[in-house]
Amino acid sequence: MTSPTGTNTRLTHAGRDDAYTRGPGMTAGIVNPPVWHASTIVFDDLAALEEARKHPDAGLFYGRRGTPTQWALEEALTALEPGAAGTKLYPSGVAAIAAALLTVLRSGDHVLMVDTAYEPSRAFADRFLKPLGITTTFYPPTADVTAYLQPMTRAILIESPGSLSFEVQDVPAIVAVAKAHNIATVMDNTWATPLLFSPIAHGVDFSVQALTKYTGGHSDLMMGSVTTTPGWWGKLKTKSYLLGYCVGPDDAYLALRGLRTLGLRLERQGASALTIARWLDGHPAVARVLHPALPGDPGNALLMRDFSGASGLFAFVLKRGARAHTAALIDHLDHFGIGFSWGGYESLILPVELDGIRTATTTDSGGQIVRLSIGLEDPDDLIADLARGLERYEAQFGEAP
Ligand SMILES: Cc1ncc(COP(=O)(O)O)c(C=O)c1O
Repeated sequence: MTSPTGTNTRLTHAGRDDAYTRGPGMTAGIVNPPVWHASTIVFDDLAALEEARKHPDAGLFYGRRGTPTQWALEEALTALEPGAAGTKLYPSGVAAIAAALLTVLRSGDHVLMVDTAYEPSRAFADRFLKPLGITTTFYPPTADVTAYLQPMTRAILIESPGSLSFEVQDVPAIVAVAKAHNIATVMDNTWATPLLFSPIAHGVDFSVQALTKYTGGHSDLMMGSVTTTPGWWGKLKTKSYLLGYCVGPDDAYLALRGLRTLGLRLERQGASALTIARWLDGHPAVARVLHPALPGDPGNALLMRDFSGASGLFAFVLKRGARAHTAALIDHLDHFGIGFSWGGYESLILPVELDGIRTATTTDSGGQIVRLSIGLEDPDDLIADLARGLERYEAQFGEAP
């Protein structure tokens, strides 16, 4: 195959090595790398086993080191980030974030973590890294990180846009400071996926995704990935192996199947989300829409500069009422599921709070926040559903605001 350059072409062909899709000597093959189940690998003779021991990553060795099913997904994810050396898979997005940080950090080190990070990333810092003697400072998403550096700062965690509140970070500026001080950067890129923002191309050392969300895309698997640079690849592989991380081949197969349609799904979900965000922006019950692709959003200039689009997850702030009132909006929607997670083909809605999960930025959003993950439904149906929901919501308070 000649080298494809378009993203959707790469999504179609990446990870489909002939060695995975056809038997030795065959002149025809299947389309999808199949599911190889394995714990034990059996060798032809002792010489083959001894040879494999010298290069355990060069081929089949032991189930924990993967089979062609996991390798196909890893290779496909690496192919999406030009400049990357390789990708490791983890049993969840949280495990991937933990593995990236543990690859860099040692006892006595200090990490800078964005205040708007996914809450379990904060919990990992507070409840896992701290007892190991690794301290964390949370920094505001739009701050100049120089002011927060300490002599032992070894890693900076970036997540852009921020969880629940969607602030966009200046990744090139953070990377420049990190490189000048020999600090590693780890980015949770789950919202954008490498299709809308490539951390590696922007100089980030570890590009992390919860594949559970958009790559899986069908709300039926848990997985995470870390893609890294030639400089960190060896260390990431070793640390991940020592920690015993691996994923089952059935889930790897599903994630690779999801990846094939990621481009189309993101395009559609992103476009529908923006249509709905614009509609909500003018709604009398809505105080603010937290969507960085809207021109009035504080993160819009950075998003337009660095990202090639927006995905389907955003939030809005209600003008009045509290969490208890949101049942009137949420409980009787026809097309939105009520649930955690996001990035699947079906739309989801969730009331969210910032209290207790921010320490360096304000938690006062000015009202109750409601998060939407927009799926593949027709946007007109979703808007009509939300319109009915907001009417029920407003009816609780009597006259119009
Ligand atoms: C931004 C972000 N990163 C990481 C994760 C963690 O993914 P997982 O649930 O696969 O551990 C989530 C899950 O909601 C998330 O929203």
